[in-house]
Amino acid sequence: MNEVIHAAGLKKRFGSSDVLNGIDLTIYEGEVFGFIGHNGAGKSTFINILTGIINKSGGSFTIMGAPDQNLDKVKSKIGVMPDISNLYDQMRGVQFLHYMGKLAGDKRSKQDYIALMKDVGLEGAERKKIKSYSFGMRKKICIAQALLGNPELIILDEPTSGLDPESAINIRKLITNLQQQGKTILLTSHNLDEIDKVSDRVGIISDGIIKKLGTPSELKHNNTTNEINAAIRTSPGLTSEKLAELSATWDFEVQFVSSKKPYSVVKVKDDNDLAKLSKELIHSGIQLFEIRIEQQSLEDVFINSK
Ligand SMILES: Nc1ncnc2c1ncn2[C@@H]1O[C@H](COP(=O)(O)OP(=O)(O)O)[C@@H](O)[C@H]1O
Ligand SMILES: [Mg+2]
Repeated sequence: MNEVIHAAGLKKRFGSSDVLNGIDLTIYEGEVFGFIGHNGAGKSTFINILTGIINKSGGSFTIMGAPDQNLDKVKSKIGVMPDISNLYDQMRGVQFLHYMGKLAGDKRSKQDYIALMKDVGLEGAERKKIKSYSFGMRKKICIAQALLGNPELIILDEPTSGLDPESAINIRKLITNLQQQGKTILLTSHNLDEIDKVSDRVGIISDGIIKKLGTPSELKHNNTTNEINAAIRTSPGLTSEKLAELSATWDFEVQFVSSKKPYSVVKVKDDNDLAKLSKELIHSGIQLFEIRIEQQSLEDVFINSK
């Protein structure tokens, strides 16, 4: 598999704050890679370094084999939608794409630009001035702009944040279409649902490093540990306080996760502790009706990676 992006120990410091503490990441040709993290985690910083908007403080990276000191020869193969774009308010939608297309060496006809606007969900807005566009429409035209010049690598920073659900679905479809055309896509999001649906692999950034990396299903199965979330139905119901009281004398750790009536979700270290848990509950005189292993959601993985 060809490496499209390879980052090794990439660091960024703003003043006295270390935002990226050594990002190691490889993104392969043809994959949709979802980069997720909380607000302020450093997602845009990472992207802005890759695209040359800001300088790294340490480490190195290559894009399509070109080293970071010499990205010029691959720049024309990269399409970027930064988180904040300068839009030319006085231009009409299709005119903006035409203009940006010329800059990107794009050889499309006006009809093709109109088709592109349709693809991103901007049908009917071709001749409206960008200053009249809503937030969502601006977002869409920024995505269209990132596709100009037929780039091989498409980097989208928060493509669907702030979009209504229907528009977000359209953008997801567009991302899947682009992948089918053989493109490599790096997108960021703090919207887990979106990442889960479109990404082949996901990296979770926290504390300036990649805390978790894998396919959405690998992350959900939490394959890095044997920890189990178990949903338990008992009588009386198990509250956090009750569990704390009971477990004080147990020789294993059990953590109360949440209450999903009629279930209480608890976390244990592994299978053995799950067996111990059911034994101890019965031993304490609690009626145990049901115990089932909960598949983690990507959101659980995300929260646990803080
Ligand atoms: N130009 C800058 N100067 C100083 N601090 C910055 C700058 N850009 C980003 N930061 C800080 O770096 C951190 C990461 O920001 P960012 O990469 O935008 O996060 P994300 O995109 O994950 O929300 C934040 O704490 C932000 O305030
Ligand atoms: Mg950001």
